[in-house]
Amino acid sequence: MSVDKLKILFAAFEVSPFVKTGGLGDVAGALPNALHNEGVDCRVVMPLLSSIDEKYKKEMHKICDITVPLGWRNQYLGIYKLLYNDMIYYFLDNEYYFKREKPYGFFDDGERIGFFSKAVLEFLECVNFSPNVLHLNDWHTALAAVYLREMYRGIDKFDHMKSVITIHNIKFQGMYSTFVLDDVVGLGNYSDARRQLLQNGSVNFMRGGLNYTDFITTVSPTYAEEIKTHYYGEGLEDILVRRKDIVKGILNGIDYVSYNPMTDDKIYKNYNYFNIQDKLVNKIALLKEKGLEVDENRPLISIVSRLTEQKGLDLVIKIFEELLDTTNCMFIVLGTGDEKYENAFRYFENKYKKRVSANICFSEELSRKVYAGSDMVLVPSRFEPCGLTQMIAMRYFTIPIVRETGGLKDTVKPYNKFTNEGNGFSFANFNAHELLFKTKEAIDLYNNEKDKFNKLMLDAGNTNFTWTKSAKEYIEVYNHILSY
Ligand code: ADP
Ligand code: GLC
Repeated sequence: MSVDKLKILFAAFEVSPFVKTGGLGDVAGALPNALHNEGVDCRVVMPLLSSIDEKYKKEMHKICDITVPLGWRNQYLGIYKLLYNDMIYYFLDNEYYFKREKPYGFFDDGERIGFFSKAVLEFLECVNFSPNVLHLNDWHTALAAVYLREMYRGIDKFDHMKSVITIHNIKFQGMYSTFVLDDVVGLGNYSDARRQLLQNGSVNFMRGGLNYTDFITTVSPTYAEEIKTHYYGEGLEDILVRRKDIVKGILNGIDYVSYNPMTDDKIYKNYNYFNIQDKLVNKIALLKEKGLEVDENRPLISIVSRLTEQKGLDLVIKIFEELLDTTNCMFIVLGTGDEKYENAFRYFENKYKKRVSANICFSEELSRKVYAGSDMVLVPSRFEPCGLTQMIAMRYFTIPIVRETGGLKDTVKPYNKFTNEGNGFSFANFNAHELLFKTKEAIDLYNNEKDKFNKLMLDAGNTNFTWTKSAKEYIEVYNHILSY
């Protein structure tokens, strides 16, 4: 099928710039655009969450409202449309489910997500768009693949529709008691669905989606292999091994328009390859803003991350004092998450006055200042499906120090001190001292071999993380599933 016949509905629970809590938002904001640039008619659907800025809400047009059957419930659904950046976005409204202070983390997430997954299909009856592929993302939309086959086959618009699920993080699966299957999502009486959704007595949305979908992608080639193993597969490795012929890792890119040190209006001073010295202006301004000692010759290391176990913060906390006591580095953390990590960084900020800044918040603006102003960024994850922070850092000519797992392994080419090739530093095992030694190696290069460090910065900034190649790989996947 040629590209101009491809009609993709891209469904995600968060889409940047409307809502973003992490990398899913970034990807859902950028990949549909890249597909659009390749000539695909790609439209995006997401919930009308209350955190969406008024400036976008004002531009939306209401198409209609309908009622969505969900088990024994009949729930209101308002359908809105927005033309943004030359693309069509649909927003699905239900204040009872989506008017909350944050996107996820509620007692009734199973019902909210079940509703959204059903609504993603129901709303299509009311719009003038007939996708041939439903591109679903993570457990928040996985159930739509089950609904599509069980409840919508035989209906014109849906009869030939195929689905793809992209796994951004297999740790999150949406597991609930069988009450959710029977009473809430209304699939309890469908015997195939029941069998394929249940795991150890619980309903598992991701398991159902992965069993039902026509193709499974994940966000890096290495993670595609890792999740077939017991350690990384989080109990779903059986499906991924069984269906290995339809599992493919496609590396994420980053949005080169939004993340561009030459045009980013959030940073202190724009710069690029040719005036890289202006990166230093950003470092000095950042140190000042954060009340740290302003010494441009000391290496500034940062973390921009959800503060959760996934991100390898146990390693950082273990070596933090040794790192600060034995080197001249400065440190900035930007993140929110588990209280134990938040408090550990607050403690270090207090202990190392003027050397450590702990910013326990989510701030898009500060994140960009940190990427631009830092010399190095740490990403020592326990597992990392793709990871965008290391790529964004490199785009701002900042050196990543990462653990060799998932997409970190696929994007960071370790510095080779004999050939001076590479674009960052990496270590293999989930071990605190490996992280310490690698970080010290980077600091040594920064302190003692500035020319080599500068070349590494330029090489990192020159690495290509655009979406073009990956968008083409997704198009191959769509064409493949539509060919049979
Ligand atoms: P994940 O999706 O697992 O959190 P990624 O590396 O894929 O990890 O993406 C994280 C995204 O969220 C990046 O765009 C990063 O800059 C951003 N981010 C993470 N924490 C914060 C924060 N506290 N403030 C602003 N942006 C953040
Ligand atoms: C998930 C993963 C992260 C990935 C992001 C976007 O949140 O944790 O590694 O980069 O999704 O795909």
